[in-house]
Amino acid sequence: MKNILVTGGAGYIGSHAILDLIANNYNVVIADNFSNSSPLVIKKLEELSGKTLPFFDVDIRDKNKLTNIFSTFNFDGVINFAGLKAVGESVEEPLSYYNNNVCGMINLLEVMAEYKVFNLVFSSSATVYGIPDTMPLLETNSMGAINPYARTKKIIEEILRDLAQSSDEWKIIALRYFNPLGAHKSGEIGENPNGIPNNLAPYITQVAAGKLDKLYVFGNDYDTPDGTCIRDYVHINDLASGHTAALNTLLKNYNLKNNFEAINLGSGKGYSVFEIIKNFEAVIGRTIPYEIISRRAGDLDVSLADVSKAKRLLGWEPTYSIKEMCADVWRWQEKNPNGYV
Ligand code: NAD
Ligand code: WQD
Repeated sequence: MKNILVTGGAGYIGSHAILDLIANNYNVVIADNFSNSSPLVIKKLEELSGKTLPFFDVDIRDKNKLTNIFSTFNFDGVINFAGLKAVGESVEEPLSYYNNNVCGMINLLEVMAEYKVFNLVFSSSATVYGIPDTMPLLETNSMGAINPYARTKKIIEEILRDLAQSSDEWKIIALRYFNPLGAHKSGEIGENPNGIPNNLAPYITQVAAGKLDKLYVFGNDYDTPDGTCIRDYVHINDLASGHTAALNTLLKNYNLKNNFEAINLGSGKGYSVFEIIKNFEAVIGRTIPYEIISRRAGDLDVSLADVSKAKRLLGWEPTYSIKEMCADVWRWQEKNPNGYV
């Protein structure tokens, strides 16, 4: 069995990916500093997987602690989910985003090189495309990040590309996620934002649960059929299996032309804000109150993935419908009204 270090593994995407990795016979070691997650996630993952999971409370910028982990285990690969991800916060605190995301990645790469662990899957983002002129988005579109968070992802991708060109030992896949939605079918793990959510789905479920009064829809004057923004929502379990597929590709049947590949993970289908509200209303069985307010700075009218590269290189395809995504989020919200407590 292959040993995989999962950094940022207690977070929303990492926790779901870990369950998929375990189901596919990978041994997982988790490292997280809990800056945006709870230690209770580890307990839940152990219950759901029936395994004891080696876990380290570590900041990926702490080289000594990372070195201790790498000297204890023989890793075949690393998945790095560890990062700060709030766009608005990144505008207010750019240095903490560059420090955490970029310096953290460099630190981890240095320790990986020291221990000759050259297989990496990195959490990138559709935000690296900036303001695109064609849709759906192909990996060949140019990058053009428009805020500090997105620039951390773009800079890291550029670092990874340089590294992969420097030596044939490195094998790296950057997965560009579109809009993750959903929760594990058990309803035991899911997205657990701190404070008032920035993103659409957790905001809607908190309105439905009575924790927030109403949803504020950011603009209905976009160039879309109903005037609200269209996004490519992808089920968190599909996203999770995309990581297993990426690792399989790196470790088992390496068939990448280059040592670095950036690959979109989305559903390839777009839904407007109003369509998402309607899907949640159908699942929950009541109306979601909302008010239309002005546009949010930086929002694109449409963001949509072309996922043919993921199919071609990873053998991966999205499988869940938007209805299932909303139903699974709602199950998680109902079972855990206060998140991980
Ligand atoms: P999350 O905040 O739930 O998970 C990130 C995890 O990393 C958290 O558990 C946090 O405590 C940990 N972490 C942060 N900085 C760390 C550090 N320096 N050392 C150790 N641990 C650290 O976020 P998520 O939604 O699971 O996202 C995972 C990754 O995917 C992030 O890098 C994010 O930028 C990227 N991403 C997320 C989305 C999204 O919409 N959720 C979309 C595209 C890309
Ligand atoms: C979706 C749509 C909003 C909240 C973000 C990050 C991106 C990536 C994924 C990490 C938009 C509208 C939202 C609300 C609303 N993360 N909306 N009222 O902006 O597509 O992507 O998460 O890489 O970097 O920017 O997702 O869920 O915030 O918004 O009307 O209260 O919902 O305008 O059209 P977004 P989102």
